[in-house]
Amino acid sequence: MGVTDRKVLLAGASGMVGGLVLRELLRDSSFKGRVVAPTRRGLPIKDSRLQAPIVDFASPESDQLIQQAINQFADGTIDAYVCCLGSTIRAAGSREAFIAVDRELVLKLAQLAQTAGAKQAILVSSAGASRQSANFYLRVKGEVEDAMEKKGFQRLDLLQPGLLLGPREQRRPAEAVFQRLAPLANVLMAGRLRPYRAIPADSLARAIVRLMATDGEGIFTHTYDAIRELDPAA
Ligand SMILES: NC(=O)c1ccc[n+]([C@@H]2O[C@H](COP(=O)([O-])OP(=O)(O)OC[C@H]3O[C@@H](n4cnc5c(N)ncnc54)[C@H](OP(=O)(O)O)[C@@H]3O)[C@@H](O)[C@H]2O)c1
Repeated sequence: MGVTDRKVLLAGASGMVGGLVLRELLRDSSFKGRVVAPTRRGLPIKDSRLQAPIVDFASPESDQLIQQAINQFADGTIDAYVCCLGSTIRAAGSREAFIAVDRELVLKLAQLAQTAGAKQAILVSSAGASRQSANFYLRVKGEVEDAMEKKGFQRLDLLQPGLLLGPREQRRPAEAVFQRLAPLANVLMAGRLRPYRAIPADSLARAIVRLMATDGEGIFTHTYDAIRELDPAA
């Protein structure tokens, strides 16, 4: 099955990467599939192929709302779960609140997608993600990767980008500086540092859409070079 017929549960569509994935999919007129994209504040896009319910993810009714959208809009089935969710400790307010998004919500939506039949999952993680990392953020990313691996999707793609370059509604101050320095820093990042190179968010989004149309079973981890190779426009 190509991407044209895919029914997708897209998490994080109001964010930078998720928004670009959504735009990339919907601008393709040959895409006749369905995107169910629950967000907490809605989406400014209207399209007959998109259902974007506003959901309070902390409420006990949230699962039911998403399930309803899948039932009514996608005949009750999902082919792929694409997850671009993510927070920061600062934005979430605490380590616990960060975990609630970057691990627990990611896994809860994976379960919903799987229950609706999803055989494929694509997760945007991070360069350096590891359960063993001394860095809290990377450790949580590693934990969610491990948990996703255990869920038994037929195909799981784990994307591990470095700094993402692109338009963001609320720019984080340190990020703005890094974004400007990124082209120079990328040249200097060789060898073991190469996977941490900055990457345009739209390139990552195109890679994700390409993966949605990629067959083959297994668990695949993609760092900088593999992501760039997947991007048809790179
Ligand atoms: N940005 C980078 O440089 C970078 C680098 C490496 C890896 N990553 C990873 O890449 C992924 C996508 O990053 P991004 O830059 O596109 O992130 P982003 O623009 O901040 O978008 C994050 C998405 O997660 C949603 N979200 C956050 N907190 C939530 C909550 N409490 N409840 C429900 N939804 C919530 C946001 O919804 P709202 O719009 O409602 O906030 C948004 O849709 C993340 O997993 C991130 O960790 C990012």
